Amino acid sequence: MPKLLKVIAIDGPAGSGKSTTAKEVAKRLGWTYLDTGAMYRALGLAVHRAGGNPEELNDVEPLLDKVEIGFGTGFPPAVLLNGEDVSELIRTPEAGQAASQVSTHGLVRKRMVELQRAIGIKQPCVLEGRDTTTVIFPDAGLKIYVDGSVEVRAKRRLHDYTVQGHTMNIEEVIADVIERDKRDMGRKESPLQVAEDAVVIDTTEMNMEEQIQAVMDVALDRFGGSSR
Ligand code: DC
Repeated sequence: MPKLLKVIAIDGPAGSGKSTTAKEVAKRLGWTYLDTGAMYRALGLAVHRAGGNPEELNDVEPLLDKVEIGFGTGFPPAVLLNGEDVSELIRTPEAGQAASQVSTHGLVRKRMVELQRAIGIKQPCVLEGRDTTTVIFPDAGLKIYVDGSVEVRAKRRLHDYTVQGHTMNIEEVIADVIERDKRDMGRKESPLQVAEDAVVIDTTEMNMEEQIQAVMDVALDRFGGSSR
């Protein structure tokens, strides 16, 4: 039997709680947490700093060989751009927008996937994101797809927005979640899909701790060990 790659890749739609789950599972297992979105955000920031347009491949491509994107030690690991800690700077809405734009270029995705694989293969790791189970680690030892009803995912989003100080009502957020699902699943480049051998966890009736525990149970069953 081939050796089980110590990688847990978690995918799922907006509001499925995959980021919190991935981070917490990594922490409990003592594995590396790889924030794949942070890498696109760091590149987006680099493009902005260079005065470029993240939508223009001509502006982005020359930077691919110039910038070094990586992670520091500690938990969660600091995001490094040419050695500078940009963990906070990449969390602005502008950096999110730039990340989304640079991530549409096939060449950028190819380079990022190479980097992400290199990091994930070096040490046991947990990662989440739209292409983790299908493109980055189709050979992950464990693939998880966290799902949940539209209403429950919208309620979680609404809670996040409220904490961030935005006022929205549940109808607006439901419409937003439905639209994102459609876009995420329908896009050409790395659409969100359930990998063939993924373990699907329906989180509709679960709170966050139950969701984390559900992933931990599958992980410990797959890789061995005990969490309780
Ligand atoms: O998860 P996040 O919001 O930090 O991601 C920022 C952007 O990066 C998101 O708009 C899409 C892109 N991204 C991607 O294309 N592939 C990933 N594996 C993760 C993020």
